[in-house]
This record gives sequence, structure tokens and C-alpha cells, in this order.
Amino acid sequence: MQPHESTSAPRWITQLTLGFVALVAIVFLLEFVAASLRTVSSTVPEAVDTEPLAERVARILEGSDVANGERLVRESYECHVCHIEGGGRIAPSFVGLGQRAAQHAPLSPEEYLYLAITKPSDYVVEGYPNAMPANYPQRLGEREIGDMVAYLLTQ
Ligand code: HEC
Repeated sequence: MQPHESTSAPRWITQLTLGFVALVAIVFLLEFVAASLRTVSSTVPEAVDTEPLAERVARILEGSDVANGERLVRESYECHVCHIEGGGRIAPSFVGLGQRAAQHAPLSPEEYLYLAITKPSDYVVEGYPNAMPANYPQRLGEREIGDMVAYLLTQ
């Protein structure tokens, strides 16, 4: 009886302690997640919104990968469903886009292409419907947009 009592009491205490530690860990983890969510929602949009266009475009084009841009435009996303080879009535062809993008002063060609992809309704090409999907900024990462712009500049 004596040995049994002396071992069961510490086990009980150990379980209580473990439970307490686990509870503290969970509360800490939840607080950490909540804090990071607060940081994301309060600082990121502001930082992005106040960044001047020229700086943002220069930043996303830094170290951009033309070959990856081609793969994204031609394979990963559905750009060519509308932008068919040789043009058409749905959307303009990408052929000669590098040169056409240079005709949007005061925008630089890369600024124009960035805006044509991220704010299509603000830059509707004459003779075409306002039918370009507006959700690419949500679907594409900045690096992907940079690579696509770098590729389209070469077209
Ligand atoms: C549902 C059809 C559709 C899809 C899909 C689509 N676009 Fe477009 N896009 C258009 C239309 C229509 C226009 C012309 C009207 C406009 O400027 O918004 C256009 C215009 C553009 C322009 C401006 C072209 C110019 O000659 O100035 C660029 C650049 C462009 N799209 C890039 C893309 C890229 C990159 C993708 C894929 C990530 C894509 N588009 C997917 C329909 C589409």
C-alpha cells in the first residue's frame, strides 16, 4: 500500500502539470496566430498601396525570369484561351506587344503591362471588350507577374 500511494501521487501531479503546460502552449500559439493575422491585415495593404508604381514595377522586375514568364503565360494560366495566336476578336494578340506597350507614355512599357494585367478595366485596349479577368492580382504572386511582364516585353 505504501509504495503504491507514493508513486500514484506524483503521477497525478505530473499529469496535471503536463495538462497545464499544454494549455499554456495552446493559448500562446493562438495568441501568436492572432497577432500575425493582425499584422498582416493592418500593415501589408498599406505598404503595398503607398508604394509608387515605378518603384513597385522596378522591384518586381528585378531578377525576373523571361523563360518562366513564357511558361506561366503559355502553360500555367489560361491567357492564350483569349489571347490566341494571331489575334482575334476576343483579345489582342501578344505579337508585337513589346512595341505597342511603348506607346502609353507617360507610362513606361513595363508599367503599362503591369497595369494591363493587374487593373485591366482601367486600360481597355481600343476595339476590344472589357473582358480581361480582374482577379489576376489575387491569383498571381508578384514574382509571377514580374516574370510575365518581362516575357511580354520581348514579344
Ligand atoms: C477571358 C479572356 C482573357 C484572359 C483569360 C486573359 N486576357 Fe488579357 N485581355 C483580354 C481582353 C479582352 C483584353 C483587351 C481589353 C483590355 O485591355 O482589358 C486584354 C488585354 C490584355 C493586355 C493588354 C494588351 C495590349 O495590347 O495592350 C495584356 C498585357 C494582357 N491582356 C495580358 C494577359 C495575361 C498575361 C493573361 C494571363 C495571365 C491574360 N491577359 C488573360 C482578355 C483576356
